[in-house]
Amino acid sequence: MKLSVIGTGYVGLVSGTCFAEMGNHVICVDNNQQKLNALKNGQVTIYEPGLEILFHRNIEKQRLTFTDDLKFAIQNSDIIFLCLPTPQDEDGSADLKYVFGVAKNIGKILKENNDKDYKIIVNKSTVPVGTSKAVTNILSEFGIKNFDVVSNPEFLREGFAVEDFMKPDRIVIGSNSKKAFEIMRELYEPFVRQGNPILEMNPESSEVTKYAANSYLAMRITFMNELANFCEKVSANVDLVRKGMGADSRIGKRFLFPGIGYGGSCFPKDVNALIKTSEEFNSPIKLLKVVDEVNRQQKLVLVKKLLQHFNNDIKNKKIAIWGLAFKPNTDDMREAPSIYIIKELNKLGAKVSTYDPAAMENAKFYVDEIPEYCNEQYEPLNNADALLILTEWNEFRNPDFDKMKSLLKNPLIFDGRNIFDIEKMEELGFIYYSIGRKV
Ligand code: UGA
Repeated sequence: MKLSVIGTGYVGLVSGTCFAEMGNHVICVDNNQQKLNALKNGQVTIYEPGLEILFHRNIEKQRLTFTDDLKFAIQNSDIIFLCLPTPQDEDGSADLKYVFGVAKNIGKILKENNDKDYKIIVNKSTVPVGTSKAVTNILSEFGIKNFDVVSNPEFLREGFAVEDFMKPDRIVIGSNSKKAFEIMRELYEPFVRQGNPILEMNPESSEVTKYAANSYLAMRITFMNELANFCEKVSANVDLVRKGMGADSRIGKRFLFPGIGYGGSCFPKDVNALIKTSEEFNSPIKLLKVVDEVNRQQKLVLVKKLLQHFNNDIKNKKIAIWGLAFKPNTDDMREAPSIYIIKELNKLGAKVSTYDPAAMENAKFYVDEIPEYCNEQYEPLNNADALLILTEWNEFRNPDFDKMKSLLKNPLIFDGRNIFDIEKMEELGFIYYSIGRKV
């Protein structure tokens, strides 16, 4: 099939590359010249395991091309994917200026073309309910008739995006057109050969599904975070409670890990957007307000523990940090708990020294107060009063504990991701604080 993908950010680049991998011809469009030049020169502009090999292979086979020429892309594709940013507005709602701006340009181009060929315009960006209708209206205002708008949200996790795209749990397609369903089904069938469903629904249900899935997962994590804080008070171990709960097939084992709050470019934004839309439609989802509030507090839970340990005074203490990214296998710093933690530590007069395997360059845009970035895992520990673990990178899971002890001023660890066994840490002679577990 002939496709174009408008916007070569995270979703656009992964989707474009994976569609090309299935034998489709994909034209990716972006107006950021710097990004475009990098892509044309064969540079993958995001950090995503497994993407590079597919990217190069499909460029070589000439199935994947990059341009800033929207007109050329529209004229040479049957399905147009909108993979544009929908940043959070000041009031929490999603800002649709990019989506609507491109929709207008598509309208103009199709009009110039005399509305000759049938096109499907797909909203892949996370957009509030009603956006498919709004995009349809924009195109209709240009007199365009030979088209359908489809809502087709993505469920890609950073770090696993290629895997999630190539083998999705489900594909959600929202449309009112039989023809569009048929074409979209044909496009996606090769991705669900193992039998996972392609779910057809009206656009509104599809749009809500995306927000519902992310908000539900955010709520689940938040429940575990509050439960963990409670477990500490009553000598329960949240790890054991998690296993006890997760074994119930109605609950399931995944996404029950407590920590220092969810971050990233999706959960915080989508929770707030759903709060906002539900209020606008006079049907507020009250639960989500609490989820958002609790999550903000949870981001600082390690600082609270640190202050408690040091009798509320961490002035001039050297605090080592392992992990800055909002989760492992990504260099993404958006809404990472580390940003809030480091800012707070700075406010309290502590000196921060940190290491992350991938996110240090990006971190510099978010936290300019960090005094020290280290190129090696053990360097920040040198003469530090405590170590904080903020991201569960695999390389932190089995460290040289003797080396850690010899470098740290105190054998003191605050683990925001529960990566070590509490009994083992006690045996090794560490003072070890984690989330929802006490020795
Ligand atoms: C999330 C969803 O998982 C994807 O399905 C969705 O497509 C994506 O948002 C999106 O809307 O684009 P992502 O933001 O990449 O993906 O990250 P997750 O792996 O879901 O993790 C989100 C946050 O939850 C992280 O901060 C992580 O540390 C935290 N988390 C996750 C927990 O604290 N506990 C858990 O058990 C799981």
